[in-house]
Amino acid sequence: MHRPDAVTVRAAAKINLELHVGPRDRATGYHELATVFQAVSLYDDVTLHRADDYALAVSGRGAGEVPTDATNLAWRAASLVARQHEGAGPVDITIAKDIPVAGGMAGGSADGAAALVAADTLWRLDLGREWLLPLAAELGADVPFSVLGGTAVGTGRGDELVPAMARGTYHWVLAFSDEGLSTPRVFAELDRLRAERGEEAGEPQVSQALMAALLAGDAPAVGAAMHNDLQEAAVSLQPSLAETLAVGEECGALGGLVSGSGPTIAFLAADNEQALDIAVALTAKGVAADVRRATGPVPGAHVLDPLKEQ
Ligand code: C5P
Repeated sequence: MHRPDAVTVRAAAKINLELHVGPRDRATGYHELATVFQAVSLYDDVTLHRADDYALAVSGRGAGEVPTDATNLAWRAASLVARQHEGAGPVDITIAKDIPVAGGMAGGSADGAAALVAADTLWRLDLGREWLLPLAAELGADVPFSVLGGTAVGTGRGDELVPAMARGTYHWVLAFSDEGLSTPRVFAELDRLRAERGEEAGEPQVSQALMAALLAGDAPAVGAAMHNDLQEAAVSLQPSLAETLAVGEECGALGGLVSGSGPTIAFLAADNEQALDIAVALTAKGVAADVRRATGPVPGAHVLDPLKEQ
């Protein structure tokens, strides 16, 4: 059977519409989460070429900050597949980035997910989701969602997924920051703030209000229900984020929140026109390093057909 020499896979960024953080597990260091992910139309493209040795090169947004060695999630994904499956071998990896690095939008996880799906296709393994998702979970908490895409509820470390019933298309405005935030640092800051207040983290749970709003395709209700437990910690580490959030509120955005561990801020707009207004206001006030519009939900990591226009 014909095996391709190279495969390109596109993987999307994510926003957490809700992110509830429970207590930290002392044994693993991970926090128990209840979250609702949505994949949005901002993408990294990862190409795997068959090769004699591993190599990796990165271009695009934030490329200079991405490791190009065996610690890169795409490299780890490709070598995990090669270790576990006879007939799979080393690859030359190129990553074209548009998802911000250390931005709270699962950019690294998208690259890991894309490399898994690309390796599956390149080596004709036909693993299917039931095999790919556990491999993805070995690479990181957000990697399974990057494989799956759409809108989904995540529990455990965020890696136990159930697709959510969601209607409609959502219009997002994304405000990028010029400095990233480290995910472990933001979780640690939340623990510190909670300890300072003597607060015990409860059992995390997604809200009925958000699930009902998604089911109905009711964007204003989705905007009103959006919530992120990590937001306070991200703003504490990067206080200028409060000004960025205020601009969306002044523009009448349906909702606005720090995405994941930040510092990217995601605003939900009523329609394309309002999204444009919010983007213009953010740019005019100079509160973001870059502003992008996106829609969601979009599919998870998928092979790009080299014969079709991309
Ligand atoms: O799994 P991943 O490598 O993406 O996680 C990065 C870090 O984020 C973890 O090392 C941990 O500090 C923090 N994290 C957490 N609880 C989660 C997910 C991530 O504390 N559920």
